[in-house]
Amino acid sequence: MSAYQSKHARSLVAAKRQGGKTYTEQSHPLDQKAVPHRRRTSAKRGHRRGIATLLVCLVLLIAVAGGLLWYGHGQVAKSVPSIPSAAQSAPVTTILPAAVPAAVTADQVPYARYYYYDASRAKRYVAYAAKHPKLDPSAVVWQVDVDLDYDVFTHVESVRDPDSDTPLINKHFKLAKDFVPKHLVSLDSAQVRSNVAAAFEQLAAAASGKGLSLTATSGYRSYAYQEGVFDNNAAKYGKANAYVAVAVPGFSEHQSGLAIDVNGLLRGEDSETSGVGGWLHQNAWKYGFIVRYTKANRALTQYTYEPWHIRYVGKAAAKTMHDQKISTFEEYWVKYVEYQAPA
Ligand code: DAL
Ligand code: ZN
Repeated sequence: MSAYQSKHARSLVAAKRQGGKTYTEQSHPLDQKAVPHRRRTSAKRGHRRGIATLLVCLVLLIAVAGGLLWYGHGQVAKSVPSIPSAAQSAPVTTILPAAVPAAVTADQVPYARYYYYDASRAKRYVAYAAKHPKLDPSAVVWQVDVDLDYDVFTHVESVRDPDSDTPLINKHFKLAKDFVPKHLVSLDSAQVRSNVAAAFEQLAAAASGKGLSLTATSGYRSYAYQEGVFDNNAAKYGKANAYVAVAVPGFSEHQSGLAIDVNGLLRGEDSETSGVGGWLHQNAWKYGFIVRYTKANRALTQYTYEPWHIRYVGKAAAKTMHDQKISTFEEYWVKYVEYQAPA
């Protein structure tokens, strides 16, 4: 066992040797509800009483094992959250008023007032709004701008500006296979960009002041390594579960060197409000990080909740997201990276 594994063996619940490498993912919903293994009792040879006792024990054991299997099955089924459609969790949006351009047609009036409106997507705004009648028009515009009206992996675009602090990497925007971030440095047992390591050290120091211990268990992952993580997870839990827990190679923020998995965070219901997870939700933004896959935004990201996965976006971006109550990086990216907010 390597130093990496021995240090973090308890948190690397999905680790598995494959072709001489160890591919890791912090956690998986199916890992939380393992059915406890029961030891079998040995029978005493000899008189009838012993045999009768053994038979009664066996019947009881079968009944208990059956019950556990049934319970375990129910728990496993419950522990894999279903991902609702994107528009079911309408995020908080900030409406920035603007004059509607004079030439727009009537059906575009609700959308054309936003500075991130693009007339080339006019039909898509209308179609998306028809599908999601309760969605605020501003959300219709930014969600279509970032291709959330398309099924994942169907209209894939190249990640723009991948060396910046704010590239958008998701199931619609892919990194090149050979993309490797510049200035990678070691951080605990992982590697990240040097500015991300410096920010994480400040984050960890602040957490330590509150009695919380933060270490990085996973940072940069190459395309090939991510392939191993995905394949390993798919082999263990099935492809459908893997798709909502692990990024397909090229689509992972880990390949950018901007993402960190924080040690020891399980997918508990209270992870957003207590312990290390709760602290990260409240404070990560002050150091330039966001919790990328939250309960609030899973319909938009199409990933299950990951309390451990933090993404560096830089202090200014993280502050804007915090101040504007933007809970999904996609929304920030449209409003502040792809389009420039009017002064
Ligand atoms: N678990 C995250 C989504 C990744 O694999 O990048
Ligand atoms: Zn991660």
